[in-house]
Amino acid sequence: MQTGYTDSSSGIDSPPILRAENVRKTYRRNGISTEVLKGVDFAVHAGEFVSIVGASGSGKSTLLHLMGTLDSPDNGGIWLGDKRIDSLPGRDRDRLRNSTFGFIFQFYHLLPELTAVENVLAPELVASTVWQWPFRKKAATKRAEALLERMGLSHRSHHRPCEMSGGEMQRTAIARAIMTRPKVLFADEPTGNLDETAGAEIMNLLKELNRTDNLTVLMVTHNMEMAANTDRMVRLASGRIDSSRSITPQGTHLPRHIEPNTMELAYRGVG
Ligand SMILES: Nc1ncnc2c1ncn2[C@@H]1O[C@H](COP(=O)(O)OP(=O)(O)O)[C@@H](O)[C@H]1O
Ligand SMILES: [Mg+2]
Repeated sequence: MQTGYTDSSSGIDSPPILRAENVRKTYRRNGISTEVLKGVDFAVHAGEFVSIVGASGSGKSTLLHLMGTLDSPDNGGIWLGDKRIDSLPGRDRDRLRNSTFGFIFQFYHLLPELTAVENVLAPELVASTVWQWPFRKKAATKRAEALLERMGLSHRSHHRPCEMSGGEMQRTAIARAIMTRPKVLFADEPTGNLDETAGAEIMNLLKELNRTDNLTVLMVTHNMEMAANTDRMVRLASGRIDSSRSITPQGTHLPRHIEPNTMELAYRGVG
Protein backbone atom coordinates (compact mmCIF):
# COMPACT_ATOMS: atom_id res chain seq x y z
CA MET A 1 0.00 0.00 0.00
CA GLN A 2 1.31 3.45 -0.96
CA THR A 3 1.12 6.45 1.28
CA GLY A 4 0.80 10.03 0.22
CA TYR A 5 -0.21 13.41 1.49
CA THR A 6 -3.44 14.79 0.19
CA ASP A 7 -5.50 17.87 0.75
CA SER A 8 -7.95 17.89 3.63
CA SER A 9 -10.89 16.89 1.46
CA SER A 10 -9.04 13.64 0.58
CA GLY A 11 -9.24 11.83 -2.70
CA ILE A 12 -12.46 10.06 -1.86
CA ASP A 13 -15.18 10.28 -4.49
CA SER A 14 -18.32 10.05 -2.33
CA PRO A 15 -19.93 13.44 -1.63
CA PRO A 16 -19.21 14.91 1.80
CA ILE A 17 -21.69 13.96 4.48
CA LEU A 18 -20.44 16.75 6.73
CA ARG A 19 -18.56 19.90 5.80
CA ALA A 20 -17.12 22.96 7.51
CA GLU A 21 -16.61 25.94 5.25
CA ASN A 22 -14.39 28.86 6.26
CA VAL A 23 -15.26 28.31 9.90
CA ARG A 24 -13.99 30.87 12.39
CA LYS A 25 -14.36 30.87 16.14
CA THR A 26 -13.10 33.28 18.77
CA TYR A 27 -13.82 32.85 22.48
CA ARG A 28 -14.21 36.00 24.54
CA ARG A 29 -13.93 35.80 28.28
CA ASN A 30 -13.14 38.53 30.85
CA GLY A 31 -12.12 40.93 28.10
CA ILE A 32 -9.65 38.43 26.65
CA SER A 33 -10.33 37.02 23.21
CA THR A 34 -8.82 33.79 21.95
CA GLU A 35 -9.01 33.28 18.21
CA VAL A 36 -9.16 29.49 17.96
CA LEU A 37 -10.30 28.70 14.41
CA LYS A 38 -9.18 31.05 11.65
CA GLY A 39 -10.99 29.73 8.60
CA VAL A 40 -11.28 25.96 8.63
CA ASP A 41 -12.33 24.12 5.47
CA PHE A 42 -12.85 20.47 6.08
CA ALA A 43 -15.06 17.73 4.70
CA VAL A 44 -15.91 14.26 5.97
CA HIS A 45 -17.21 11.68 3.50
CA ALA A 46 -19.94 9.13 4.18
CA GLY A 47 -18.47 5.97 5.64
CA GLU A 48 -15.11 7.52 6.49
CA PHE A 49 -13.28 7.19 9.79
CA VAL A 50 -11.38 10.46 10.14
CA SER A 51 -9.12 11.57 12.96
CA ILE A 52 -8.22 15.12 13.89
CA VAL A 53 -4.87 15.57 15.60
CA GLY A 54 -3.07 18.67 16.86
CA ALA A 55 -1.45 20.16 19.93
CA SER A 56 -3.42 20.64 23.12
CA GLY A 57 -5.39 23.88 22.80
CA SER A 58 -5.23 23.88 18.99
CA GLY A 59 -9.02 23.86 18.75
CA LYS A 60 -9.78 20.19 18.07
CA SER A 61 -12.71 20.02 20.51
CA THR A 62 -13.94 23.40 19.32
CA LEU A 63 -14.06 22.16 15.72
CA LEU A 64 -15.79 18.93 16.76
CA HIS A 65 -18.39 20.87 18.76
CA LEU A 66 -19.07 23.21 15.85
CA MET A 67 -19.44 20.34 13.36
CA GLY A 68 -21.78 18.57 15.78
CA THR A 69 -23.85 21.76 16.35
CA LEU A 70 -23.01 21.81 20.06
CA ASP A 71 -21.76 25.36 19.46
CA SER A 72 -22.02 27.89 16.62
CA PRO A 73 -19.27 29.39 14.48
CA ASP A 74 -18.75 33.17 14.33
CA ASN A 75 -18.30 32.96 10.56
CA GLY A 76 -18.62 30.31 7.91
CA GLY A 77 -21.00 27.38 8.02
CA ILE A 78 -21.52 23.69 8.65
CA TRP A 79 -23.33 21.53 6.10
CA LEU A 80 -24.88 18.11 6.53
CA GLY A 81 -25.15 16.90 2.94
CA ASP A 82 -26.55 19.93 1.17
CA LYS A 83 -28.32 21.29 4.23
CA ARG A 84 -26.80 24.08 6.27
CA ILE A 85 -27.12 23.10 9.94
CA ASP A 86 -25.25 25.67 12.04
CA SER A 87 -27.97 28.28 11.50
CA LEU A 88 -30.92 25.98 12.27
CA PRO A 89 -33.18 26.92 15.20
CA GLY A 90 -32.11 25.37 18.52
CA ARG A 91 -34.89 22.78 18.54
CA ASP A 92 -33.91 21.48 15.12
CA ARG A 93 -30.28 21.24 16.19
CA ASP A 94 -31.36 19.38 19.35
CA ARG A 95 -33.26 16.92 17.19
CA LEU A 96 -30.28 16.47 14.89
CA ARG A 97 -28.00 15.72 17.84
CA ASN A 98 -30.46 13.21 19.16
CA SER A 99 -30.98 11.35 15.89
CA THR A 100 -28.45 11.92 13.09
CA PHE A 101 -25.46 12.55 15.35
CA GLY A 102 -24.00 10.53 18.20
CA PHE A 103 -21.35 11.72 20.67
CA ILE A 104 -18.80 10.18 22.96
CA PHE A 105 -16.42 12.11 25.20
CA GLN A 106 -13.23 11.54 27.16
CA PHE A 107 -15.07 11.45 30.48
CA TYR A 108 -18.09 9.44 29.24
CA HIS A 109 -20.78 11.85 30.54
CA LEU A 110 -23.03 9.05 31.74
CA LEU A 111 -25.82 9.92 34.15
CA PRO A 112 -24.53 8.61 37.51
CA GLU A 113 -27.90 7.72 39.01
CA LEU A 114 -28.95 5.58 36.04
CA THR A 115 -27.90 2.01 35.28
CA ALA A 116 -26.07 1.14 32.05
CA VAL A 117 -29.26 0.08 30.27
CA GLU A 118 -31.11 3.19 31.47
CA ASN A 119 -28.26 5.39 30.21
CA VAL A 120 -28.44 3.70 26.80
CA LEU A 121 -32.22 4.19 26.74
CA ALA A 122 -32.00 7.89 27.60
CA PRO A 123 -31.80 9.26 24.00
CA GLU A 124 -34.84 7.20 23.00
CA LEU A 125 -36.74 8.45 26.04
CA VAL A 126 -35.84 12.04 25.16
CA ALA A 127 -37.00 11.48 21.57
CA SER A 128 -40.40 10.15 22.69
CA THR A 129 -43.39 12.02 24.01
CA VAL A 130 -44.90 10.83 27.30
CA TRP A 131 -47.71 9.31 25.24
CA GLN A 132 -45.38 7.42 22.90
CA TRP A 133 -43.01 6.07 25.51
CA PRO A 134 -45.22 3.30 27.00
CA PHE A 135 -45.60 1.89 23.47
CA ARG A 136 -41.94 2.24 22.59
CA LYS A 137 -40.40 1.17 25.85
CA LYS A 138 -40.34 -2.58 25.30
CA ALA A 139 -38.67 -2.50 21.87
CA ALA A 140 -36.29 0.24 23.00
CA THR A 141 -35.21 -1.75 26.05
CA LYS A 142 -34.61 -4.78 23.86
CA ARG A 143 -32.44 -2.73 21.52
CA ALA A 144 -30.53 -1.13 24.42
CA GLU A 145 -29.81 -4.58 25.85
CA ALA A 146 -28.70 -5.87 22.45
CA LEU A 147 -26.34 -2.91 22.05
CA LEU A 148 -24.85 -3.52 25.49
CA GLU A 149 -24.37 -7.15 24.53
CA ARG A 150 -22.61 -6.06 21.34
CA MET A 151 -20.32 -3.92 23.50
CA GLY A 152 -19.58 -6.99 25.62
CA LEU A 153 -21.50 -5.59 28.57
CA SER A 154 -24.52 -7.85 29.11
CA HIS A 155 -23.27 -8.56 32.63
CA ARG A 156 -23.18 -4.82 33.40
CA SER A 157 -26.68 -3.80 32.22
CA HIS A 158 -27.92 -3.10 35.72
CA HIS A 159 -24.75 -1.55 37.09
CA ARG A 160 -24.39 2.16 37.70
CA PRO A 161 -21.39 4.05 36.26
CA CYS A 162 -19.64 4.08 39.67
CA GLU A 163 -19.64 0.27 39.57
CA MET A 164 -17.95 0.09 36.16
CA SER A 165 -14.39 0.48 34.86
CA GLY A 166 -13.44 3.35 32.52
CA GLY A 167 -13.53 1.06 29.51
CA GLU A 168 -16.95 -0.27 30.50
CA MET A 169 -18.28 3.27 30.96
CA GLN A 170 -16.98 4.27 27.54
CA ARG A 171 -18.52 1.18 25.93
CA THR A 172 -21.83 2.09 27.60
CA ALA A 173 -21.43 5.60 26.20
CA ILE A 174 -20.90 4.15 22.70
CA ALA A 175 -24.07 2.05 23.05
CA ARG A 176 -25.94 5.18 24.11
CA ALA A 177 -24.47 7.18 21.20
CA ILE A 178 -25.69 4.69 18.61
CA MET A 179 -29.07 3.97 20.24
CA THR A 180 -30.96 6.23 17.82
CA ARG A 181 -29.02 4.93 14.77
CA PRO A 182 -26.99 8.05 13.98
CA LYS A 183 -25.18 8.59 10.69
CA VAL A 184 -22.19 10.38 12.20
CA LEU A 185 -20.41 9.60 15.46
CA PHE A 186 -18.32 12.36 17.03
CA ALA A 187 -15.66 11.13 19.44
CA ASP A 188 -13.59 13.59 21.49
CA GLU A 189 -10.50 11.85 22.91
CA PRO A 190 -12.52 8.66 23.50
CA THR A 191 -9.48 6.76 24.79
CA GLY A 192 -7.86 9.70 26.57
CA ASN A 193 -8.70 8.45 30.04
CA LEU A 194 -8.14 4.73 29.42
CA ASP A 195 -5.19 2.37 29.65
CA GLU A 196 -3.77 0.86 26.48
CA THR A 197 -5.87 -2.32 26.54
CA ALA A 198 -9.18 -0.58 27.23
CA GLY A 199 -8.27 2.08 24.65
CA ALA A 200 -7.57 -0.54 21.99
CA GLU A 201 -10.94 -2.17 22.74
CA ILE A 202 -12.72 1.14 22.19
CA MET A 203 -10.82 1.71 18.96
CA ASN A 204 -11.75 -1.78 17.73
CA LEU A 205 -15.42 -1.16 18.51
CA LEU A 206 -15.37 2.17 16.66
CA LYS A 207 -13.73 0.54 13.67
CA GLU A 208 -16.24 -2.29 13.74
CA LEU A 209 -19.17 0.16 13.79
CA ASN A 210 -17.56 2.11 10.96
CA ARG A 211 -17.06 -1.00 8.89
CA THR A 212 -20.18 -3.04 9.51
CA ASP A 213 -22.74 -0.30 10.15
CA ASN A 214 -21.17 2.19 7.73
CA LEU A 215 -21.15 4.69 10.57
CA THR A 216 -19.12 7.81 9.71
CA VAL A 217 -16.73 8.54 12.57
CA LEU A 218 -14.98 11.83 13.32
CA MET A 219 -12.51 11.36 16.16
CA VAL A 220 -10.28 13.83 17.97
CA THR A 221 -7.20 12.29 19.50
CA HIS A 222 -3.66 13.11 20.48
CA ASN A 223 -2.73 9.43 20.31
CA MET A 224 -0.86 9.07 17.03
CA GLU A 225 -1.18 5.31 17.03
CA MET A 226 -4.98 5.57 17.18
CA ALA A 227 -4.98 8.31 14.53
CA ALA A 228 -2.78 6.29 12.19
CA ASN A 229 -5.31 3.49 12.49
CA THR A 230 -8.10 5.55 10.88
CA ASP A 231 -8.85 6.09 7.17
CA ARG A 232 -7.54 9.64 7.22
CA MET A 233 -5.79 11.89 9.66
CA VAL A 234 -5.87 15.67 9.49
CA ARG A 235 -3.87 18.06 11.61
CA LEU A 236 -5.18 21.26 13.14
CA ALA A 237 -2.49 23.91 13.59
CA SER A 238 -2.56 27.70 13.91
CA GLY A 239 -6.34 27.69 13.65
CA ARG A 240 -6.47 25.88 10.31
CA ILE A 241 -6.39 22.39 8.87
CA ASP A 242 -2.79 21.93 7.85
CA SER A 243 -3.47 20.20 4.54
CA SER A 244 0.20 19.64 3.77
CA ARG A 245 0.32 17.39 6.81
CA SER A 246 -2.92 15.53 6.32
CA ILE A 247 -2.34 11.95 5.49
CA THR A 248 -4.35 9.28 3.84
CA PRO A 249 -3.37 5.79 2.76
CA GLN A 250 -3.86 5.73 -0.99
CA GLY A 251 -4.59 3.05 -3.53
CA THR A 252 -7.90 1.88 -2.12
CA HIS A 253 -11.29 3.48 -1.80
CA LEU A 254 -11.86 4.07 1.89
CA PRO A 255 -8.88 2.09 3.14
CA ARG A 256 -9.60 0.24 6.33
CA HIS A 257 -6.25 -0.03 7.99
CA ILE A 258 -2.72 1.17 7.62
CA GLU A 259 0.18 -1.22 7.13
CA PRO A 260 3.07 -0.94 9.62
CA ASN A 261 5.41 0.78 7.16
CA THR A 262 2.70 3.34 6.47
CA MET A 263 2.28 3.87 10.16
CA GLU A 264 5.92 4.85 10.46
CA LEU A 265 5.43 7.43 7.74
CA ALA A 266 2.39 8.67 9.57
CA TYR A 267 4.42 9.20 12.73
CA ARG A 268 7.11 11.08 10.82
CA GLY A 269 4.64 13.09 8.77
CA VAL A 270 2.20 14.16 11.39
CA GLY A 271 3.78 13.41 14.74
N1 LIG B 1 -15.76 28.08 26.30
C1 LIG B 1 -14.54 28.61 26.17
N2 LIG B 1 -14.28 29.88 26.58
C2 LIG B 1 -13.06 30.43 26.43
N3 LIG B 1 -12.00 29.80 25.88
C3 LIG B 1 -12.20 28.53 25.45
C4 LIG B 1 -13.45 27.87 25.56
N4 LIG B 1 -13.33 26.63 25.04
C5 LIG B 1 -12.06 26.52 24.63
N5 LIG B 1 -11.36 27.67 24.86
C6 LIG B 1 -9.96 27.90 24.51
O1 LIG B 1 -9.82 27.68 23.11
C7 LIG B 1 -8.62 27.00 22.82
C8 LIG B 1 -8.91 25.70 22.08
O2 LIG B 1 -9.59 24.82 22.95
P1 LIG B 1 -10.00 23.34 22.52
O3 LIG B 1 -10.82 23.39 21.30
O4 LIG B 1 -10.60 22.72 23.72
O5 LIG B 1 -8.58 22.70 22.19
P2 LIG B 1 -8.13 21.16 22.07
O6 LIG B 1 -9.34 20.32 22.10
O7 LIG B 1 -7.37 21.08 20.78
O8 LIG B 1 -7.22 20.91 23.23
C9 LIG B 1 -7.90 26.81 24.14
O9 LIG B 1 -6.97 27.86 24.29
C10 LIG B 1 -9.01 26.93 25.16
O10 LIG B 1 -8.53 27.41 26.38
MG1 LIG C 1 -10.00 18.91 23.42
